[in-house]
Amino acid sequence: MRIAVIGVNQGLGLVLSRLIAEKGHTVYAAHLGKTPAEVSEAAKRFPGYKPVEFDVTNEAMAETAAGIISRDGGGLDALVTVAGILTDSDRTRLITEADIGDLRKALEINTVGAAIVIKHFHGLVKDGGKFIAVTSEAGSLTNIGEKYPGYSVSKAAQNKLTAIFAKTVSRYAVYALHPGRMNTVMGRNDAQIEPEESAEGIYKIISGEKKPPANTWFINYRGEAMEI
Ligand SMILES: NC(=O)c1ccc[n+]([C@@H]2O[C@H](COP(=O)([O-])OP(=O)(O)OC[C@H]3O[C@@H](n4cnc5c(N)ncnc54)[C@H](OP(=O)(O)O)[C@@H]3O)[C@@H](O)[C@H]2O)c1
Repeated sequence: MRIAVIGVNQGLGLVLSRLIAEKGHTVYAAHLGKTPAEVSEAAKRFPGYKPVEFDVTNEAMAETAAGIISRDGGGLDALVTVAGILTDSDRTRLITEADIGDLRKALEINTVGAAIVIKHFHGLVKDGGKFIAVTSEAGSLTNIGEKYPGYSVSKAAQNKLTAIFAKTVSRYAVYALHPGRMNTVMGRNDAQIEPEESAEGIYKIISGEKKPPANTWFINYRGEAMEI
């Protein structure tokens, strides 16, 4: 298979991109900024591991990255957008004390960045393929807590964006996916699983070993329907 993973500098994106390459597939590993050492090492170790620079907030870079993937051999069997942020102020502040600059940053990367990925990469996914946007349970509109307000708003918007996209395309499956509470830099305070477990689950969804229920766009890494 040919798969793109967007946001591989660390955490789930790095683990998932390595897993896909280990399984013998081609993976376009989109990283932010200078190539991280782990990404360079993966590219040395696996012939199918192909780093591509891409900041999800930058449309010109999106066009360039999509062009590189397209020229390298055509369509993708799956695209997984993993890039996201949780700002430091959002970890500790309620909405009544929000740092508005950080709220804008969360929306810019988690929501606008996700829209840029849809706009510039949607045409690369093959008929019958899969487009997976890693969002969060925090984006649920019915299961609401007071923590992480900026992050939650940006992930709710990313969920809606993904649902709209799922209505827009019919040639392939589109999912918003909650990856679990993972032991990464972002999630370690509330972690329940390692990112490896989430990556294995996502891989099974990509490969078709795990089939999410029909007519569902919001799922978790085990392929189960999530509360919208
Ligand atoms: N961890 C959890 O428990 C949890 C729970 C629910 C949902 N999620 C979601 O799962 C995804 C992965 O989370 P994680 O725990 O692996 O977080 P992480 O370790 O913080 O990784 C996030 C990744 O996104 C990259 N990124 C940030 N801004 C970017 C940009 N503008 N363009 C491209 N890449 C960018 C980061 O690069 P840098 O490191 O260089 O900034 C990093 O590689 C996120 O979307 C997150 O919201 C995580």
